[in-house]
Amino acid sequence: MEKYRITGGIPLSGAVDISGAKNAVVAILPAVLLSDEPCRIENIPHISDVTTTLKILEKLGAKVAYVDPHTVEIDPRTVTSNEVDHELACKMRASYYFIGALLGKTGSARVPMPGGCWFGERPIDLHIKGFHALGAESIPQEDNVIEMHANQLMGNSVYLDTVSVGATVNIMLAAARARGMTIIENAAKEPHIVDLANFLIRMGADVRGAGTDVIKIRGVQQLSGAVYSIIPDQIEAGTYMAMAAATGGDVLVRNVIPKHLESITTKLDEMGARIEEMDDAVRVRCEGRLRGCNIKTMPHPGFPTDMQPQIAVLLSIAEGEGTITEGVWDNRFRYTEELIRMGAKIEVNGKRAVFQGVDHLTATNVKAMDLRAGAAMVIAGLVAQGVTEIEDIRYIERGYEDIIEKLRRLGAQVERVTDEA
Ligand code: UD1
Repeated sequence: MEKYRITGGIPLSGAVDISGAKNAVVAILPAVLLSDEPCRIENIPHISDVTTTLKILEKLGAKVAYVDPHTVEIDPRTVTSNEVDHELACKMRASYYFIGALLGKTGSARVPMPGGCWFGERPIDLHIKGFHALGAESIPQEDNVIEMHANQLMGNSVYLDTVSVGATVNIMLAAARARGMTIIENAAKEPHIVDLANFLIRMGADVRGAGTDVIKIRGVQQLSGAVYSIIPDQIEAGTYMAMAAATGGDVLVRNVIPKHLESITTKLDEMGARIEEMDDAVRVRCEGRLRGCNIKTMPHPGFPTDMQPQIAVLLSIAEGEGTITEGVWDNRFRYTEELIRMGAKIEVNGKRAVFQGVDHLTATNVKAMDLRAGAAMVIAGLVAQGVTEIEDIRYIERGYEDIIEKLRRLGAQVERVTDEA
């Protein structure tokens, strides 16, 4: 069993380079299926969700080749199958993007229900509603598999009852080559939605309004090959910013789009960290103790739910009271049990958590309960007194490239160890 072992108490200092965005790349790689020619995708992060997505593409028949460690060329012309591998689909949430991409490419898709992090029910009814609006039919299956078919996808208006990243992406994928105009209302506005739209446009798609709550897609008959570079990861950047603030460090977080970080910057500033924005970097410094504050997670441009566990560590050690209200998921506070075992004082009541800041956390052995909860455990380990061991690090490695090396370069005492037991 692989673990992270972290000796806490060292302020981080130096510079860290942020990798390509996980939630953008897991949408853009399936989107390559829609092209009639090979595509080259740059700034690909080395994370296990990318490995899984590329394996799914290969199993569908696409040719996948790394040109360099962060650039991959994909030729979708050799795709012969419309059926996503069961084991691979269950490893990650974003495997559901193959429904939209395969429907758009071949008019049919057979995709197992996706896996991924658990924070309460994660329905995909809005995705299905969107596909139905575009003329696809569901073919009933007994084995937890989604099978859909369309003779010809037709553009239509789709109103999303809830702002959903996944449904917005999936409908964009299905609509790119549908006949006529699709209008997605109450669309998600996350940076990765805009990144996907820009990639589709680069291939020749007609997509307008991404980044607002109304996206219009006029279907085209063909899409050509494209070279495209993935945007930097907003959440990875936010995580290193939180690490800098939590450890009382001084870190230059490079290769970021500061605009994407505004909601995080605002809260760190309110808590007493000093943030300096540059063109493509932010410097985070913190002297003295952080202050508690109130945070509510919301769809973009609100404070991202995927930064909720990381900021919770800061509230755990900040002076005074702080609160987090979770505005997206029903059950995203399970990791607080681990922080409480490290000495945090947290009371969770449904979708609200109240933090009474403590002087320090004490190292112990903890589990990464999911990807971002795992990142929170790393932050907790960096600030705790003593040596923290984190189990189930496979969750963390779904979304953080080279986290051990990046932290070491910032001066952290952290290692990946194999527990023979
Ligand atoms: C994506 C992100 C995830 C992030 C989440 C919210 C990816 C691969 N994952 O997940 O990291 O936490 O956005 O920012 O990009 N909902 C429905 N029906 C649906 C779909 C969603 O009711 O068909 C609800 C969900 O239960 C949730 C809310 O809508 O309460 C938002 O979910 P959604 O934005 O779809 O999350 P994901 O796309 O799964």
